[in-house]
Amino acid sequence: MSDDRPTPPQDAPAGPGYAEVYRRSTEDPEGFWLEAARAVDWDEPPTRALDDSSAPLYRWFPDGRLNTAYNALDRHVEAGHGERTALIYDSAVLGVQEHYSYARLRDEVARFAGALAARGVGRGDRVLIYLPMIPQAPVAMLACARLGAVHSVVFGGFAPKELAARIDDSRPRLVVTTTGGVEPKRRIEYIPAVEEALRLAEHDPEAVVVHERAGFEHDVEGARGRAGRDGQPAVQWLSWDEALEGAEPAAPVPVAATDPLYVLYTSGTTGAPKGVVRDNGGHAVALTWSMRHVYDVRPGDVMWTASDVGWVVGHSYIVYGPLLAGATTVLYEGKPVGTPDAGAFWQRVEEHRVKVLFTAPTALRAIRRADPEGELVRRHDTGSLETLFVAGERLDPETWSWAGRVLGVPVVDHWWQTETGWAICANPYGIERLPLKAGSPSVPVPGYRVEILDPLGQPVAPGEDGNIALRLPLPPGTLTTLWGDDRRFVESYLTAFPGYYATGDSGHVDEDGYVYVMGRTDDVINVSGHRLSTGAMEQVLAAHPAVAECAVIGVADPLKGQRPAGYVVLKAGARIPEEQLRTELVATVREQIGAVADFKDVFVVEALPKTRSGKILRKTMRQMADGQEWTVPSTIEDSSVLDALAEVLRPPR
Ligand code: COA
Ligand code: AMP
Repeated sequence: MSDDRPTPPQDAPAGPGYAEVYRRSTEDPEGFWLEAARAVDWDEPPTRALDDSSAPLYRWFPDGRLNTAYNALDRHVEAGHGERTALIYDSAVLGVQEHYSYARLRDEVARFAGALAARGVGRGDRVLIYLPMIPQAPVAMLACARLGAVHSVVFGGFAPKELAARIDDSRPRLVVTTTGGVEPKRRIEYIPAVEEALRLAEHDPEAVVVHERAGFEHDVEGARGRAGRDGQPAVQWLSWDEALEGAEPAAPVPVAATDPLYVLYTSGTTGAPKGVVRDNGGHAVALTWSMRHVYDVRPGDVMWTASDVGWVVGHSYIVYGPLLAGATTVLYEGKPVGTPDAGAFWQRVEEHRVKVLFTAPTALRAIRRADPEGELVRRHDTGSLETLFVAGERLDPETWSWAGRVLGVPVVDHWWQTETGWAICANPYGIERLPLKAGSPSVPVPGYRVEILDPLGQPVAPGEDGNIALRLPLPPGTLTTLWGDDRRFVESYLTAFPGYYATGDSGHVDEDGYVYVMGRTDDVINVSGHRLSTGAMEQVLAAHPAVAECAVIGVADPLKGQRPAGYVVLKAGARIPEEQLRTELVATVREQIGAVADFKDVFVVEALPKTRSGKILRKTMRQMADGQEWTVPSTIEDSSVLDALAEVLRPPR
């Protein structure tokens, strides 16, 4: 592969080509999606696809009823595939591997669902899941789905305050957690984090169920001893095994297709995370369709998504997608490098005969840095690998061509968001293998109508940058609203361009219809494929007694894509050594948002550049920090501030 030449198409699957499938999806969405819905098992099959009676809030399959966990597990067992491997748990940090057949996973899910039901969890109740990459995470998610309960998974790298915000917003009946997570450099104690979150939250869940892992300091017994004392909320603490005692396996509960399956919080412009709501029916249909048509994964194939169940990529393609498709998924507890080396991915591709690998560009950059010539790739037989999919952040052309060269397989970039739940743009490998182009996630996936708009909502010419917007209605599987807040949903996404969903991304479309996603138009940044809000970090910095005002921007980073950098102006008369202030601010962001924020750079400056109306010129600061061309905005209040900042913002050589 070269950086600028499209790669030739690989052997194309039989059937109608992309243009034909895409045309059908937009000209006859009703027929298209009802047909796709036939791949799912329904308790009551839908007779209609789209309900637009409350537009711009849309619902898919309004009269259908189904159970997502049944579709992910039982149907495969009932079809005679109970012995097929559903999930391979592979922990690089512990050196442990375990295979779960479909029958075993179904049974474990049914039993844990029974345990949840015994504690009163039923249809519509929320369960917050705070677990690392261990089998109990998908078991707990699917157990909720089995009962028609709504799970809300929180990524382990978030701090107690973030956990508390999610508890207060989703008001879970139960929290499911563990004693700890294993990071390469340290063990993370989960129980104190949950205790702290419960102290901070206003809402009290009824119980906390703890999966006990060996090797951690804090246990259920200790938490039980503290519950209700010393200002602790009086929640009931019980171990996973205690919860299972006497629990009867629960049968799948048919729910309305429009019932929520999960809430997943993601960063927005403000500090308050947005609870993206996914339904049951649209989600099952869209993911099932995507497995076949986007990834070309069929029953029995092995798909490994190296992400985390705490992110949308993990929800869709570690847990639900592969299982809905009857494929085998790999749950990998480890890193691309350092557990123990940059060959970790290739070793597992060989061992598990992985057909499709999905990861984030940052993981490839980390591997490339450690093994630039791909020597560790050559030590393994990666012959089972057909395609490498990447998403989560922009895939830079250098990383794209490097990965293609060392692996010898197509590297398919695809673009999506927590909100959409599955790809907006991709090279639809199960339909037609279109040429790949460096820097582009290829073309709109059937169902999505992608347009590039200027700030006034007018379409721009091919090649011209603008706001990437999706014409409404969005296809099935995309968010239906924000948890408990239709108004925020409409204001955040549907108001900027009436008739469209605003993605918050900017980019352009070329003359062949290929989309290029260049960056965000808001204050969301992407650090190692993790989506973070600079607004949330600014809130933390601004609360420091010595800080008068501050700005956090995402600056380009060769490994992580972006990294956050904070610029603070001190209050007049503040007496604190700069080094101490830096240390305190870095520690507070870690304490209040979490290690995942990866906030390490703080600069004390005299003033921040602002418009005459007082808005901080973050975009200009970012352009300066990234060494891009920039012009002094005409709205600036005092341009000498920019001159003074130039030295601080100069990119490192
Ligand atoms: N629980 C607790 N802490 C976590 C965590 C988790 N699940 N995941 C990350 N962290 C912590 C790390 O320990 C680290 O803490 P430290 O500051 O004490 O070292 C911090 O958060 C930042 O971690 P990370 O983003 O992993 O950076 P890194 O420098 O340790 O590793 C990469 C760099 C590129 C190897 C790593 O970011 C990576 O694997 N990225 C891929 C991400 C991905 O797959 N995203 C999915 C989106 S599709
Ligand atoms: P998240 O919601 O965490 O999945 O993050 C979604 C955001 O990540 C998108 O809005 C984009 O800004 C960015 N993103 C995801 N995938 C890609 C991609 N393939 N190319 C460019 N940006 C991407």
